[in-house]
Amino acid sequence: QIKRLTAPAIARKKGGEPIVALTAYHAHTARIIDPFVDLLLVGDSLGMVMHGYETTVPVPLDLMIRHAQAVVRGSERGLVVVDMPFGTYEESPQIAFRNAARVLKETGAGAVKLEGGVHMAETIRYLTDRGIPVMAHIGMTPQSVNVFGSFKAQGRRRSEWAKFEEDAQAISDAGAFAVVVEALAELLAARITRQIPIPTIGIGASAECDGQVLVLEDLLGLSPRVPKFVKEYAQLGEAIRDAVSAYADDVRTRSFPADENTYPMLDEESETQPA
Ligand code: KIV
Ligand code: NA
Repeated sequence: QIKRLTAPAIARKKGGEPIVALTAYHAHTARIIDPFVDLLLVGDSLGMVMHGYETTVPVPLDLMIRHAQAVVRGSERGLVVVDMPFGTYEESPQIAFRNAARVLKETGAGAVKLEGGVHMAETIRYLTDRGIPVMAHIGMTPQSVNVFGSFKAQGRRRSEWAKFEEDAQAISDAGAFAVVVEALAELLAARITRQIPIPTIGIGASAECDGQVLVLEDLLGLSPRVPKFVKEYAQLGEAIRDAVSAYADDVRTRSFPADENTYPMLDEESETQPA
């Protein structure tokens, strides 16, 4: 029987073959992607992708838990990491622990992820010391969109580098087992990857990172707009449009359902149908 990858197993991949991560929000896609990835991230991006919120800020913890349960049921090999949504961990290490413990207990996931650097280090230490592996998330942190003002790349001027380097060092010192590095200039991502002993998992942060993550729907071509850092490996949006348009035509012309999609009466009954 294949055992799931653990947070320490992911941490040991530092500097080796790149770590492959993708978001997963539900059981069937988790089952499809599980053989190919090391890590399935139940990202709070599900609020935007699945539920139509404009940002990740409104996402409730219960919603994350429901989706995480589905992803754990649908997968058997990859480490399942669950995003702590905005407002469930920032206030204190104790509140973070209470909510993160709920996530692990109610879902069976192997780790949580939270956004923030220096100011979240104490919480990362608190959770890790008490049995909850934490993946950090630095650089462009979408839950702070109301502070940043937009979702834009960071660290494209050297004068901005120190803050991100300090964040990376702090979360690594605090015991994070890996860190998502989002929308950072390539040179800075490379520098941080060299400076810390835990794997950097990049999204919009170049091939210099120790691994990569993308939103599955973005790479499948299901998202209406994607950032520059996404590569669309399929055009499922177009495939859905074509399929649904053909279905609509078939229904309107009564060519669907055809005989092969229809239940006839059983043989012995067909003689005796009421008039
Ligand atoms: O919510 C999310 O999907 C994420 C990743 C894209 C890193 O945080
Ligand atoms: Na996220």
